[in-house]
Amino acid sequence: MSFLTEPSSCYKESFLEGLHEFQKEGRLLQYDAQRIAENFEQFLQKELAQRNPGRTMPGRVPQVDFWLIDNHEYIGLLSVRLVLNDFLLRIGGNIGYQIRPSRRRRGYGKEILRLGLQKARELGVPRALVTCDENNIGSKKVIEYNGGKFENAIDVVGSPVKKLRYWIDLC
Ligand SMILES: CC(C)(COP(=O)(O)OP(=O)(O)OC[C@H]1O[C@@H](n2cnc3c(N)ncnc32)[C@H](O)[C@@H]1OP(=O)(O)O)[C@@H](O)C(=O)NCCC(=O)NCCS
Repeated sequence: MSFLTEPSSCYKESFLEGLHEFQKEGRLLQYDAQRIAENFEQFLQKELAQRNPGRTMPGRVPQVDFWLIDNHEYIGLLSVRLVLNDFLLRIGGNIGYQIRPSRRRRGYGKEILRLGLQKARELGVPRALVTCDENNIGSKKVIEYNGGKFENAIDVVGSPVKKLRYWIDLC
């Protein structure tokens, strides 16, 4: 059975494999994989510090990251943004998630958002905004499966692709 956990050294090897897969398709490029491999504990501490309002980067809101684990293996990641700034209210939403490429189309997308909504509720988010690109069929299905109520499709500066915005009540 899969579950969400805080980033943890228990899953270091499969996290690094998953990171390699994400980076091969151009995602999570902000992470320096070699440095992370060499300083894993430091990386974990930085990840965990993002939830602390006093230690978030300028322009960022407090965020809590989780990893989806199944069969002792890292499957993907989910972030819960505890509040919305202007950018998140328009584009980013409260919850972001990604399933590592080799584990897609097995139901993990639906599951990670289902579990993530529970975490968001526990963290005190009353109503979650979840967004996706209009051409991201998988993510659209994941959101609608989890009860997302469509609000609108908005233009994104510099992109021909609209952003779909959905709300999910958590209270
Ligand atoms: C979007 C994403 C999370 C979906 O994860 P997943 O594990 O493949 O999702 P699931 O297996 O639960 O699939 C959910 C549904 O979408 C469909 N689906 C998934 N990927 C699809 C794709 N590329 N094209 C068409 N349908 C797709 C599945 O067949 C399933 O359909 P069903 O309900 O009719 O059975 C994953 O593709 C991903 O991480 N993409 C990159 C990051 C991303 O887009 N994150 C979301 C940001 S909004």
